[in-house]
Amino acid sequence: MRHAARRLAAATFLTLAPALGLTAEASSISPWWKHAVVLEVYPRSYADSNGDGVGDLNGITSHLDDVVSLGADTIWITPMYPSPQVDFGYDIADYQAVDPQYGSLADFDRMVAEAKKRHVHVVLDMVMNHTSDKNPWFVDSARSRTSAHADWYVWNDGVDVNAPGVTAFQKRYVHDGKVPPNNWQSMFGGTAWEWAPSRKQFYYHRFYPQQPDLNWRNPAVEKAMFGAIRFWLDRGVDGFRLDAISTLFEDTKLRNDPERGGTNPHGDPNLHYAYSDKLPEVHDVMRRLRKLVDAYPGDRVLIGETYEPTTEALVPWYGGKAQDELQLPMDMLPGFGWGTKFDAAWFRKHLEDAQVQLEGGTPLMAFDNHDNERSIDRYGDGKHDIDRAKVLAALLFMNRGVAMTYYGAPLGMTTSVPARKEDVRDPVGIANWPNDKGRDGERTPMQWTAGPQAGFSTNPATWLPVATNYSTVNVASELKDPQSLLQWYRTLIALRQDNPAIRDGRMVFVDRTNPDVLAWVREGEVPVLVAMNFSDKPRVLKTGLEAKTIHTLAASTPALSGAASLDGTTLPPFSAWVVSFTR
Ligand code: GLC
Repeated sequence: MRHAARRLAAATFLTLAPALGLTAEASSISPWWKHAVVLEVYPRSYADSNGDGVGDLNGITSHLDDVVSLGADTIWITPMYPSPQVDFGYDIADYQAVDPQYGSLADFDRMVAEAKKRHVHVVLDMVMNHTSDKNPWFVDSARSRTSAHADWYVWNDGVDVNAPGVTAFQKRYVHDGKVPPNNWQSMFGGTAWEWAPSRKQFYYHRFYPQQPDLNWRNPAVEKAMFGAIRFWLDRGVDGFRLDAISTLFEDTKLRNDPERGGTNPHGDPNLHYAYSDKLPEVHDVMRRLRKLVDAYPGDRVLIGETYEPTTEALVPWYGGKAQDELQLPMDMLPGFGWGTKFDAAWFRKHLEDAQVQLEGGTPLMAFDNHDNERSIDRYGDGKHDIDRAKVLAALLFMNRGVAMTYYGAPLGMTTSVPARKEDVRDPVGIANWPNDKGRDGERTPMQWTAGPQAGFSTNPATWLPVATNYSTVNVASELKDPQSLLQWYRTLIALRQDNPAIRDGRMVFVDRTNPDVLAWVREGEVPVLVAMNFSDKPRVLKTGLEAKTIHTLAASTPALSGAASLDGTTLPPFSAWVVSFTR
């Protein structure tokens, strides 16, 4: 009886695979980015080579061997261009240079050359939506209504404060009897319109007032931005992560974004960004940009900062069926929000959707970045944080998509939120304290060693304080501990790079009705089963799979190393198991 049930389960497994549309990704000729393991590096916080307390490019170069040791093959470097650093580089004053506090163009070229020697790809951050207000384009634009760059930004006369339809929100911002033309908001709080006395006009800024939005309806803007992109492609970068890409265009009629009721943490009305985000025109720019990068050799890649509420909503960013826009729009949903829980069934549904709904596009998943509380804190329960982080790492690196991680995540670096307003560096926190304490917590210096400043800098005055847990949570200590989170990351990433089934194999889910266990097979000549227990209780794995031989490739707990069966094995609480087998 038991035997028959097993056969049935195995048959179901075989018929389900095509039904789920789980297609095999072919082999070694596919572009490098389809298999990438991307490490996001925040240059200010990674490694300080000159003792000024701020990280820099030479610091990154000096740690490229650590990138290789982790197993990552791509680094995404957040903006290192000249900038007043109001938004720590996301306010660019010059798109074709390096900020002196991070080094020089020569340092940059050396970093790229050293990365190439180690087969590490370099992806830059490109901020197309806005510039710094100190960018010469904006300085000229703000000078007068007739300057050469007058129309490079989004300018408006505003409306009379007593005009019909003006909202209470608009009335908070009166200048010369005028208020902003609509209710559009800055993502960092308050109106998105700033008064410029020089032009007696408002300019639009989706983010800080020091980050004026470019006017993408002006072809000169695209020409200049594409020129900057070519500048870096010519220097050998492998692609770009496109910042705030969804907000390039705004409604020409300047219609109010509809209110959704209630207020946000900044105290402003909740809006549905119907007229200030995701306008269809952005896709024309993406297609032209894709053509531009495709004209370069070496499969240059476009990665998008695409916060979307569903998997399906990512499809247009790939360019739909044509797949002619971004190769890798980020899937931020599991990592960053919209009710995500540490829940096997939720992740199963999400991963299954990503296999079938992307029109053949490669999913890219991330759990950590420089804008959000670290995942170890979001998904931790205070007691089993490392165990849970190990489960999520298995989920991230053993699935078919591109995996992205963030400096410090492989160590289990935690979020260190400033305790006092006077210590905050991120203006989001300064402006909105204490409702929103800003993003400093996830940007603290990298923890390399148990020595002074965690080996990040020789200078005790680091730009943000080193997190207090650095004496145990650091690279040097974790390399010595076979059970550390870092060793777990290294094991998983090495498997992903070397094991053909994990690298290329299609993904077939098993034990699909189990509420606590998430499991799938990566198909191949020697298939691999990946199984994770998301609960705090032991759970029996029911795959219905029979195997002639099995071989554990990775086990988050030694208790699993000797497990002898693909079916009926008990997974300890919060554990992950990766096992190859022959049928
Ligand atoms: C993106 C960046 C964030 C920045 C914002 C404005 O969301 O990730 O750090 O503040 O864009 O450029």
